[in-house]
Amino acid sequence: MNYAEALKLLRSFPIEKGHDWDRHCIQVGEIAYRLALALKDFIPIDPEKVRLMGLVHDFGRSVTQCPFAHSYEGYKLMKALGEDELARICACHSNGTYRPEDIEAYGLKPEDFFVRTIEEKLVFIADNLEDHGSVVRQDKRLADVISRYEKKNPEFLPILQSKFREFQAFDDEIRALCHKGVYEILGI
Ligand SMILES: [Fe+2]
Repeated sequence: MNYAEALKLLRSFPIEKGHDWDRHCIQVGEIAYRLALALKDFIPIDPEKVRLMGLVHDFGRSVTQCPFAHSYEGYKLMKALGEDELARICACHSNGTYRPEDIEAYGLKPEDFFVRTIEEKLVFIADNLEDHGSVVRQDKRLADVISRYEKKNPEFLPILQSKFREFQAFDDEIRALCHKGVYEILGI
């Protein structure tokens, strides 16, 4: 699947009134692409592929808005299309966001829900910074997400808190590679 095909698929999903996750998907692709461009003089990386991975990461939201299950729904969708690598980013993009009790029914392993490659880490980072069409620092974006979930899914809050540390670790990794942090690359 190329970017244009994935965008066409996104456009085919019904989007509930008041939801903007379709724009979020596009923006995460764009942010991840900018990060990949900054890295490409230092490591072998394909920015176009990273943009595609960012675009599809939340396609499971076409099935459910559940903060846990949407990752698996995206995985299933991409698997059914024969897109194994894109299936993986759907499952792992929230880095460790899964309920242990679901794993067996999913037929997946815990490690399928953790980012591994630099490309996957860039999508995780971009997802942490995209805020309804704007690129913002992680603390602002996470504060918004926490306020969205604190009543609806309080069990999700410890996982959200852990994203601060994970983001920091990946930001350090990027700085070690290209001598710039994520905020510097993105100018925020
Ligand atoms: Fe997302």
